[in-house]
Amino acid sequence: MSIEKLNAVLSAQLERFIAEPGGRGATVHLAPMGEIAGDLGLQQGLREGLGEDGVACFLQSYLRYATRLHSDGFFAHQTAPPNPGSAAAALIDGRVSNPMAIFEMGPAASTIEYALINHLLTLVGWPTPGWPEQRQPGEQVAAGVLVHGGSLGTLTALVAARTRVQADVWDRGNDPRLCLICAEGAHYAVQRAAGIMGLGRSQVIFAASDHRGALTEDGVAAALTRAAEEGRIPIALIATACSTSVGAFDPLDRIAPLCHQAGVWLHVDAAHGGAALISPVLRERLKGIELADSVVWDAHKMMRTGPLCTAVLYRDERACNAAFEQEASYLFHDKALPGFDFLHRAIECTKSAMGLKWYLALAWEGEAAIARYVERCFALTRYAWERIEADPDFEAALAPEANILCFRPLRGAGAELRLRDQLINEGRFHLSTTLFAGQRWLRIVLMSPQTDERTIDQLLERLRQEAP
Ligand SMILES: Cc1ncc(COP(=O)(O)O)c(C=O)c1O
Repeated sequence: MSIEKLNAVLSAQLERFIAEPGGRGATVHLAPMGEIAGDLGLQQGLREGLGEDGVACFLQSYLRYATRLHSDGFFAHQTAPPNPGSAAAALIDGRVSNPMAIFEMGPAASTIEYALINHLLTLVGWPTPGWPEQRQPGEQVAAGVLVHGGSLGTLTALVAARTRVQADVWDRGNDPRLCLICAEGAHYAVQRAAGIMGLGRSQVIFAASDHRGALTEDGVAAALTRAAEEGRIPIALIATACSTSVGAFDPLDRIAPLCHQAGVWLHVDAAHGGAALISPVLRERLKGIELADSVVWDAHKMMRTGPLCTAVLYRDERACNAAFEQEASYLFHDKALPGFDFLHRAIECTKSAMGLKWYLALAWEGEAAIARYVERCFALTRYAWERIEADPDFEAALAPEANILCFRPLRGAGAELRLRDQLINEGRFHLSTTLFAGQRWLRIVLMSPQTDERTIDQLLERLRQEAP
């Protein structure tokens, strides 16, 4: 089979997978790994190779066990459902293979990342640099880089913040007075980054939060005062927009002045909620984001882009460029060639052409269409909450601010984990659970364009039948 024929065969199978109707078994088929490995013929593939015909067969088995993020009943996790624009980018990059941390390894991909970063900086509200060849000396602009995921993005931004607060950190290691400040409900990527950066648990200060788990002015002011009184040096205060568990937005416009007064770097984890910036009606939720020092924004959550693709954005280009120190003589050297190398801005050395995916996801239908998608997801979540509020058999943890909702049937408290397992096994609905305010809740994240009001009604009906 020629590669063109193979591509056509694979493409036909993939489109059938995407077009398959919902119904039982629609979201995922969980089987023991040994069984899946046997069905995929992994051992035979490793021993004998597959060849083109074998790859087509392999894909059939692979799709049997693939999770259908595009199914109307999938609302378990915050990952973008398949999108043709992003898929086209994956196909192009898969075939061309241009890891583009340095310009010469993918001039088109690098140019796209540069332009896309500028577009995102503009959405945040920051001034952007011109093309590298036309830069004016002394320009005060913002800057950024695409990295492989929100967790790595968080680490990247916090390393930059640390370099600013302790310029000699790469020579001397951490000053023992360094600390981070965040809400207890901040994504675990923050504490993970702290540990990787050599900070112990006692060096993470939790600022008090409100009933939504969101930071408050008073909580932030108290945490900053405590840090100062204890002689600590905050690397950054981390705000979240919006939170993973319940989708709550921190009041950025009210927290930022406190950070500025204290001279503390404000990092905004907008991995999920950054998408609201493209909607004229929703961007209000991130009011004050332009006052931050750095922002992390995942495309593979609400921007219809396949995993992974994360922007790390900085208000001050100098902080972005100064984050890392290491040099490699075979990569970092003066050159008269055109272009821009992203290498010095990222933890990664080799970096995939993420901008291509984000760009084609946007360009497929245009940014306004993605904005309408985000608005629809948020509105549908509000519908689900209104249904729950009006239903004596259910309770919700909070009114949703985004497309994340925590709720549970009133009967059978404590059965949330069992209910989730039961529904996943049935295959029609796929949801998650979370601990919020010390209690376990069912959690839905509405992201599939196939989900509609009928799906929500059916989910509630199914849960009503199943609750003990
Ligand atoms: C608010 C927030 N920050 C960071 C992350 C981590 O991002 P990633 O999964 O891309 O590493 C997540 C993931 O769910 C998140 O919800």
